[in-house]
Amino acid sequence: MPITAATWYCAVYGHPVHHSASPAMQNAGIADLGLDWKYLAFDVHPDDLRLAIAGAKAMKFIGLNLTVPHKLLALEMVDALDATAKQWGAVNTIRFEARTRSGEWVPLAQLPAGEIMQVRSQGFNTDADALVQAVQQEDLELPLKGARVLLLGAGGAGRVAALRLAAEGVSELFLVNRTVSKAEKIASEIKQLFGTVGVSIGYPADTVDLVLNATSLGLQASDASPLDETKFPFKKARAVYDMIYRPAESRLLKAAKTEGCRTANGLSMLLYQGAKALEIWSGKPAPLKIMRTALVKNVYGK
Ligand code: ATR
Repeated sequence: MPITAATWYCAVYGHPVHHSASPAMQNAGIADLGLDWKYLAFDVHPDDLRLAIAGAKAMKFIGLNLTVPHKLLALEMVDALDATAKQWGAVNTIRFEARTRSGEWVPLAQLPAGEIMQVRSQGFNTDADALVQAVQQEDLELPLKGARVLLLGAGGAGRVAALRLAAEGVSELFLVNRTVSKAEKIASEIKQLFGTVGVSIGYPADTVDLVLNATSLGLQASDASPLDETKFPFKKARAVYDMIYRPAESRLLKAAKTEGCRTANGLSMLLYQGAKALEIWSGKPAPLKIMRTALVKNVYGK
């Protein structure tokens, strides 16, 4: 659809953002739904995030996705938080909403442009459920209930993953992070919220069902592996999931595959979080197959 004065916009904000496959995936989904929307990508410095969200609100964007390093910062920058953002403590999706004459907040695109007066931003989290869908259904078909998981990383993504895995009923969580105090903070949170989940800091002595990389190590070709193989050899892991999707095969995944583990990259997590975001904005079921095809083409070039 050509861009006209009636076109609506959504976007992803990140810093950096040039690696993002979201525009390719979302524009394919938007086109399939027949919407006169365009999805853009903007490199927004964290110092400018508040201003950039306010700008999108003023320009009546449909919504935003937020990626590194904005997901925690945005918690304090939106007008309302959905239950998912409150529960998982991070915002990766914002929906701009307009107030109807009867005082109800509805997705902005549901009202004729001329009738939009008051707009608010609502924050959601679609990452947490996407991780579970990716690991459990799509890629590894690994039941998480009762699983033993080694989680690498205790930053924003690591924290959401730890809480969501605990909620899914994993039996044991082993948290490894360069800054140990951050892993300890998450561990005590999990002990408080999910009493039945065993949680400890450091590499496990025994085998695990899943190693999950939630660090940023692997984004650059020169990065070291996030896993210390001298402390935890791959033969002790059934499967390895890397939230990183570009490069499609990180150093971690390459080594894990060589050692015979089942592996998957973060493409499926990106797909599910993006599909849910599109549903939140449009109110329509997302065309998953079309979005997946666009994503695979963007990441693998085929
Ligand atoms: P995100 O929102 O993607 O989680 P983040 O909060 O900055 O981003 O977290 C990045 C994660 O990668 C953290 O676990 C970080 O470890 P620290 O908590 O010790 O900072 C990890 N990480 C980044 N660079 C790293 C490096 N060079 N070595 C080890 N871990 C690293």
